[in-house]
Amino acid sequence: MVIPDVKAEFVEEFIWPAIQANAAYEDRYLLGTALARPCIARAMIKVAVEEKAQFVAHGATGKGNDQIRFELGAYALHPTITVISPWRMPEFYTRFQGRADLFKYAKEHGIDLPVTPKSPWSMDANLMHISYESGVLEDPAKHAPSGIYQMTVDPEQAPDQAERIVISFKNGLPVHAKNLEDNTEKSEPLALFSYMNELGGKHAIGRIDIVENRFIGMKSRGLYETPGGTILLAAHMDIELFTLDKEVRKIKRNLDVTFSEQVYKGFWFSPECEFTRSCIQKSQDHVTGSVTLKLYKGGVYVLGRESPLSLYNAELVSMDVQGDYEPMDAGGFIKINALRLQEYCRLRQK
Ligand code: ARG
Ligand code: SIN
Repeated sequence: MVIPDVKAEFVEEFIWPAIQANAAYEDRYLLGTALARPCIARAMIKVAVEEKAQFVAHGATGKGNDQIRFELGAYALHPTITVISPWRMPEFYTRFQGRADLFKYAKEHGIDLPVTPKSPWSMDANLMHISYESGVLEDPAKHAPSGIYQMTVDPEQAPDQAERIVISFKNGLPVHAKNLEDNTEKSEPLALFSYMNELGGKHAIGRIDIVENRFIGMKSRGLYETPGGTILLAAHMDIELFTLDKEVRKIKRNLDVTFSEQVYKGFWFSPECEFTRSCIQKSQDHVTGSVTLKLYKGGVYVLGRESPLSLYNAELVSMDVQGDYEPMDAGGFIKINALRLQEYCRLRQK
């Protein structure tokens, strides 16, 4: 058996570009599963090539996104491989209608499962997040059972003492984290990300409960906890807004959404996703600096930021000094902008 350890590459090659992209599907899901799939597919194909295998297999159901992600990833990296997907084979699905039948089979054959009929939700746990779907969660109105979350504590259980941390970015990537309470410092990507998970988990950060649109056309309800990703996203968004040119940022926001959709739909290894990634990376040339955050009972609060490359000009914006700015110019600027509005008003009055 081969079990490659791809944690470091998962952080550096998949999670890091997602942080640069402020990646979120349908505005909220931080894509923990969707990012892991191409990483797994790549590792799987590498082993297949080494072993001269003609087939690879996965256990995703025939109704979800994961089958698409694993298979698009596999074909993109190894065009002649054959993927076996048992959930889509008639000899399988006529015998096993769904998860309940599989539980029964596993029990009869003495196969140990990490899930039981009493906690029958489907989980995907990886370094970035844990997702929970199906079972009792299939009724979108039903509240999540207490005790379901495994990476984060309930906000009620979080410490009464806040923690302040400083996260430093270079070209939009986290390069250093420092805890101002106990001076813990991390720089190496995997260690830094794991530490963010630890802090986020302790302070109840990064839980969401949403109904999302699967690529395959159905809506599904899911719970996600992404502690470290949520902290880094908040920090990155702040330093990005501080350093990025206004018009570049506007274009980049659209690319962020496009990238998130490409990832969600399983097109990580595609020409279009290579393109969005490289544009997003270029946008991060000046996204350098540090953000101080407070972590407290489920919340990530920005306390301040600094950057050697910021476009912020204290003198220019100050209400106390003139700076390199002529107030009279604003009058003309407003009048020219108002022209269009005045014409529109005249039209309506006709
Ligand atoms: N709905 C999420 C996504 O499509 C999570 C999928 C979870 N997968 C799993 N095998 N439990 O990314
Ligand atoms: C699955 O169907 O195996 C999990 C859910 C998904 O892929 O969307």
